[in-house]
Amino acid sequence: MTQQRLRIAIQKSGRLADECQTLLKGAGLKLNLRDQRLLSHCQNLPIDILRVRDDDIPGLVMDGVVDLGIVGENVLEEERLEREAMNRPCEFTTLRRLDFGGCRLSLAVDKDLAWDGPTTLAGKRIATSYPYLLASYMKKTGVPFSDCMLKGSVEVAPRAGLADAICDLVSTGATLEANGLKETEVIFRSKATLIQTASPLSATNQELVDKLLTRINGVIQARE
Ligand code: PRP
Ligand code: ZN
Ligand code: MG
Repeated sequence: MTQQRLRIAIQKSGRLADECQTLLKGAGLKLNLRDQRLLSHCQNLPIDILRVRDDDIPGLVMDGVVDLGIVGENVLEEERLEREAMNRPCEFTTLRRLDFGGCRLSLAVDKDLAWDGPTTLAGKRIATSYPYLLASYMKKTGVPFSDCMLKGSVEVAPRAGLADAICDLVSTGATLEANGLKETEVIFRSKATLIQTASPLSATNQELVDKLLTRINGVIQARE
């Protein structure tokens, strides 16, 4: 498999998708991302853009399938912790933290529940899509708990009787509000970040990455 063009993975759709495209276009990449193709060629530079599910981006970078990725630190750290636990490759280099995609991973409970710190959750079940980040936080508190993995609709778990609490992403707080939940502890603060695979690139591609990073720094500086 010969691969010369630089490969960058970005989120296909979701909260980071539009801002990723804006950033890359601002950095001078001529992209035609109107259609739904997985792979698009940049028209003016030897770069290919892969549009995938955000959850797949950390693994693609850690396995060296793509050279760069833009992903939320929440998804990145969850994948890193999972791979570390499984003894699978989990190396990458952070090129820079970006200025969008801010959110937090938080514990939330029924808004009427009296909250007295993490011990309130002793012996309780917490629904989450982030079992490793949750376990890493709960380990520090020393509070015993059980979890329940849900890839979606986490916010309905308490009302549905599936769990006593949730650990989920909060951005505006509207989802919690709409489900009668209140945020009680922030366990991880996240932004979008630009990462590079740990395996060395060709000299040409590394030069291209350096140039791209300089331009991205310029775009972010200009809007500060
Ligand atoms: C997150 C989270 C909530 C929502 C919270 O999902 O799971 O559903 O955002 O945002 P709010 O506080 O502004 O209401 P998101 O769509 O980001 O990610 P996912 O599709 O990967 O679950
Ligand atoms: Zn996702
Ligand atoms: Mg969601």
